[in-house]
Amino acid sequence: MEPNLQDKPVIPMSEYVELLSEGWRETLDSRLQIFFNHMKETLRGETQTILLVLRNAPPHLSLADNVGKLSIVISESKVKVTPDGNAQPDLLIEADYTHALPIAQAVGEEAISRAVHEAKHNYGQDCIRVEGTLPKGHLRTILSAAWDHMARRTLENPDLAMRVVQQGLTRQVNAVKELGYTVIENAISPELTESLRKVIREETLCHNNLLQGRVDSNGLLGRGRPFEDIVQIPKLRTVAETALGCNMMLYTVGSAVSLCGPGNVPLHADMPNIPDPYPRWGMVGVAVWAFDDWVEEAGTTWVIPGSHKLRRFPGAEDTTDGGVPILMPKGSVTFFTHGIHHWQGDRSLQEPRVTLHNAYCRAFLRQADDFSHMDAALHRNSPVLSNLVGRNDHWGLSGHMGHDPSIQQTALNLMNDAVQQESLKAVCGG
Ligand SMILES: [Fe+2]
Repeated sequence: MEPNLQDKPVIPMSEYVELLSEGWRETLDSRLQIFFNHMKETLRGETQTILLVLRNAPPHLSLADNVGKLSIVISESKVKVTPDGNAQPDLLIEADYTHALPIAQAVGEEAISRAVHEAKHNYGQDCIRVEGTLPKGHLRTILSAAWDHMARRTLENPDLAMRVVQQGLTRQVNAVKELGYTVIENAISPELTESLRKVIREETLCHNNLLQGRVDSNGLLGRGRPFEDIVQIPKLRTVAETALGCNMMLYTVGSAVSLCGPGNVPLHADMPNIPDPYPRWGMVGVAVWAFDDWVEEAGTTWVIPGSHKLRRFPGAEDTTDGGVPILMPKGSVTFFTHGIHHWQGDRSLQEPRVTLHNAYCRAFLRQADDFSHMDAALHRNSPVLSNLVGRNDHWGLSGHMGHDPSIQQTALNLMNDAVQQESLKAVCGG
């Protein structure tokens, strides 16, 4: 039987490009050309010049001083994208490469606005400088369509060590290694926190009756765009990838609403179906998002720091001695992995606690949730989401004719884990 390609990427992997790479610029140029030629008559001589300047670009892009410049010039007769900054632009956009990338990967105006808002929350109001005005009318239509076309094809920066440094996550990466868990404080804005809390609570309770101490709901990724956004938060993915490898996948996306009362998840480790001793590397990692302040009375998760080094499920001889509560303000996320021992604390607050658990796993494991039939969601996202649901790999593509060598090589390049681990040692220590 030959491979069934229906579960493969909605955009061919061969079209994936890195922001500011030559391939990215050429793809943008050709796409703008198509739109321009198609709408030339309706433009009636409208012109526009846009200059994009991105600092601290990845060194492997080989840009002078690691600064990428890109000019888009739309004249009466033609459109041209060039890698220079000589134009006197109608619109100037200037930012750090790392801060701008999630915006360049956002499809649709609402998603772009959210990405800008979250970038400013994480890196300050001045992290993106915009001078001039956005075009209107047909020109805006052309540019918006080209933007979406590129966002669907724009890859994550494959330089994981650079992302750790640029996103300010060295402490968290070392904590995961040494303690088995970490917290990324205020990883999302208060506005996103509030909107997600409402959506998650509604999605959970519409499928469950909250008569017991806690109810869970799984399979949330297929239930709307807020869930697509939250599993892709850049800082969380960076930390998780250092533990689970590049091209890690989503394992499950689930929620929990907990009532006042004793915790009902006893001491355990999240390494399903993996016998003792656990491998010395992580297989599954769990991110738990706080949509209420995690204070001790809130029934937070408790962990035993360093217990991941035992490399086994807790047994009868293990107690909760040495455990600490994970405390963090709402809008933060904790990430734990490598089989750290943990449990749910007792809750004495009356208001139900709302959490989201998005778990990730190594690329070769079987996922708990069903991520098939997600083409619409994948089409409105960058390759990051396709990676996370497991579309961008070479498994399932072997048949009587052997492997598909081009897809296999592209997928392996996306993983490139051994190289990344070496780079990480340079920034986080061996
Ligand atoms: Fe757990």
